[in-house]
Amino acid sequence: MKYPWNDYSGRLSPLKLTVLVALFLPVGWTAIAFATNNLGARPFNEAIHQQGLWTIRLILIALAITPLRAILQWQRLILVRRMVGVGAFAYVTLHFCLYIADQNFNLVTVASEIARRIYLTIGFVALLGLATLAATSTDRMVRRLGRKWQSLHRLVYLICLLGLIHYSMQSKLEQWEPTIADGIFVWLMLYRLAAARFAVRGRLPLAWVAGIGAVATVLTGLGEAAYFNIAFHVDPLRVLSADFSLQTGVRPAVIVFAFSLIVLIAGAAGTRLAPPQKNRPGGRARFA
Ligand code: HEM
Repeated sequence: MKYPWNDYSGRLSPLKLTVLVALFLPVGWTAIAFATNNLGARPFNEAIHQQGLWTIRLILIALAITPLRAILQWQRLILVRRMVGVGAFAYVTLHFCLYIADQNFNLVTVASEIARRIYLTIGFVALLGLATLAATSTDRMVRRLGRKWQSLHRLVYLICLLGLIHYSMQSKLEQWEPTIADGIFVWLMLYRLAAARFAVRGRLPLAWVAGIGAVATVLTGLGEAAYFNIAFHVDPLRVLSADFSLQTGVRPAVIVFAFSLIVLIAGAAGTRLAPPQKNRPGGRARFA
């Protein structure tokens, strides 16, 4: 019998079990808060927000698995990529269902709002994309689609981008977490571009990882400065200087820098601890 917590050989995988349990925690938390009237004055709207946040976080986590697996030399991480991706689809489905419930199940209103409001249209296209990926994630579909599977699943980059645009558009004034998510997405895309060309035996040299972290940090800072300049005519230098002080809290560029640094340090530690790799011919990374 195949259970989601078993590995390919049918044995219990503590990693898969832990991730499976962790995937239920956010929705469990929302359900308890809902049942105990702790979701504020507009519980449905708050629940929509929480499930939306977890959708985008899970898409980013799913995208981070391939680079982290290579950088940390933690091969078994691949076991949970599909689970996290399907988890993202489950969260967006709930996000959408809660939105329908918030519209009193009036499907005509739901359809016309999706057609009228561009941020909802973008979110809906992303939802359809995730549904396609989830439907083609079974072992049977992977076998049936063969090489086409990988091309199809590259759609996840576009889906993530659409999700991030939807997120930024609806967040309006509060752009702190959306900017962090954008910065992490830039890091992930830069990693893939570099790895496709410069990976050695499936692994990008750590100097590249450091460079990618630096570029993603700078782009996050510049992106935030550009946003404040366009939306509120704030001097970009004022926003950029905030990255070097804590007066306005920890800025998104600092978080992206911390993320990049942690990955780099963990990668360096992994290199020292990992057993030497055998030299396999043609051992390039897979970048799904
Ligand atoms: C992959 C697809 C999607 C992703 C990643 C996503 C993600 C998000 C995120 C991160 C938020 C903001 C949460 C917060 O700031 O606390 C949000 C809000 C929201 N989303 Fe989505 N979403 C997606 C699809 C959809 C769809 C299909 C709909 C409905 C048609 C939808 C309707 C909403 C609504 C109504 C809000 C709250 C807006 C407000 O209160 O002004 N989303 N979504």
